[in-house]
Amino acid sequence: MLDIAELSQKIGETVELSGWAYNFRSSGSIYFLQLRDGTGRVQIVFSKNEVSAETWATLEAMTMESSVMVTGVVKAEPRAPSGFELTGLSCVFISATSGEFPISKKEHGVEFLMDERHLWLRSSRQEAIMRVRSEIEFTLREFLYERKFILMDSPIFTPNACEGTTDLFEVKYFDGLAYLSQSGQLYQEATSSALKRTYCFGPTFRSEKSKTRRHLTEFWMLEAEASFMDQNENMQLQEDMTVFVVKRVLERRAEDLKTLERDIAPLQKTAEGNFPRIRYTDAIAQLQKLGSDIKDGDDLGADDETILTKQYDRPIFITHYPVEVKSFYMKPDPADPRYVLNADMLAPEGYGEVIGGSQRIDDLALLEERIRSHNLPVEMFQWYLDLRRFGSVPHSGFGIGLERSVAWICGLEHIREAIPFARLLNRLTP
Ligand code: 4AD
Ligand code: MG
Repeated sequence: MLDIAELSQKIGETVELSGWAYNFRSSGSIYFLQLRDGTGRVQIVFSKNEVSAETWATLEAMTMESSVMVTGVVKAEPRAPSGFELTGLSCVFISATSGEFPISKKEHGVEFLMDERHLWLRSSRQEAIMRVRSEIEFTLREFLYERKFILMDSPIFTPNACEGTTDLFEVKYFDGLAYLSQSGQLYQEATSSALKRTYCFGPTFRSEKSKTRRHLTEFWMLEAEASFMDQNENMQLQEDMTVFVVKRVLERRAEDLKTLERDIAPLQKTAEGNFPRIRYTDAIAQLQKLGSDIKDGDDLGADDETILTKQYDRPIFITHYPVEVKSFYMKPDPADPRYVLNADMLAPEGYGEVIGGSQRIDDLALLEERIRSHNLPVEMFQWYLDLRRFGSVPHSGFGIGLERSVAWICGLEHIREAIPFARLLNRLTP
C-alpha cells in the first residue's frame, strides 16, 4: 500500500490509499475528505457527478476516524499544506466507526486526553512528537555505534538499589523480592571492563512521589560507560552526542517541528556546540544573585535549573557537585575531594537536567567505604567491588533521559506527551 508521504513522486498518477478519515465537509456536489495514514495527511476532492452512486453514499455516511480505501488522481496543489491533493475516483469503508469518536475538534482538558491516549495518539501533534522521539532514539544509537560503543542491555529485575533507596519499585520474585531497575549503570561498569565502551538503552523505573513536568515513573534511559575515559572526555562525548542528535532532528524532522510550532532558533544554537561548563559553586553564586534562596551545599532544584538555564542560549554543564548531594559511586576530585568529578547537562529554555554523568570511583577501599556510608547492603555489591579488585581502571559514563530530551527538543510543556503511554504517580492507564 502506498504511503501518503510518497505521493509527491506520483503526480498525475491514479493511486490507491488506505487510511482514516480525520475530517470531511461537503458543499453541495463537492466533497472534501481529509485522509491520514500515519505517514501524512492529504485532501481528496470528490465531485458528485464524477463518482458512482455507491461512492457518494459512502461519503455521505462518513464518520470521524472511519477507516477507508480511496482511489484518486494525484495533482499538485500549492495551496495545500502537503503541496498536493487527490481528485477522488472511489471511496469504500474498510470499517465504519461504531459510535462517535471521543476526541472532537473542540478543546479538551489534558486529563481527558490522557484517558483517551490510545486515540489521542492519532492527532497531528502527537504524531509529530512520536516521529521526533523515534528519530532521537535511533540517532542516539547511531552516534554510539559510530563511536564504537557496544550495546549491552542491562537487566530490569535487580537485587538492590543504586540511585537512592527511596524511589524503588518492589516486585514479587518467586519466594523473594526484586526491584525494577533504577539504572543500568553498575552493569555497564562491568560490561565496559569486558568490551571497553558499552551502553544500554531501556526502560527505567523510579517511584518518585513527585508530580512534576519532568518526572515519569517509567522512562527510557540510555546509559553509556567507557573504560579509560575521564570526566572531561565524558562531557565532550555528551556534547558531541547532543549536537549530533539535534542537528539530525533539525534536518530530518523539520516538518514535525513545524507542526509543533517549535521555535528552532535555540536548537540551532545548540547545534553549534561549545556548551558552557560551570562549577557548582559558581552556579550557586549566580543563582543567589538571580534571587534564588538556594544555599551552598544544596542540590539544585527544578526551579533553580530553570532560572539558571534561562541565562544561556544552549545546554550547560554544571560540574563538581558536593560529594553529599550525589550518588555513592562518583569519584571525588583529587584537587578538592569535597566535590565530585561529575556533571549534569541542563537543557536551555528552562528544561533543566537531561543528562547526569560522572567519573566513577576506581579505588576499592574508598568505594567500599561509600557503599557502607550510604547504608547500602555491601554483600550485594561484591560483584561490583570485584570490578575494582580485578584490573580497576579510570572510567566514566552518563545517562540521558529520552523523554526529557524529547520534551526539550519538541518544546513540550509536560513530559507526559513525550512517551506513547505515560506512567505517572496518578496514571497507569490506558
Ligand atoms: O541523574 P540520573 O538519576 O543518573 C543515573 O541514573 C546515572 N546512573 C546515569 C549514569 O551515569 N549512567 O538519571 C539520568 C537521567 C536524568 O538526567 C534524566 O534525564 C532522566 O535520567 N531521569 C528521568 N526522566 C524522567 N522521569 C524521571 N523520573 C527521571 N529520573 C531521571
Ligand atoms: Mg541526576
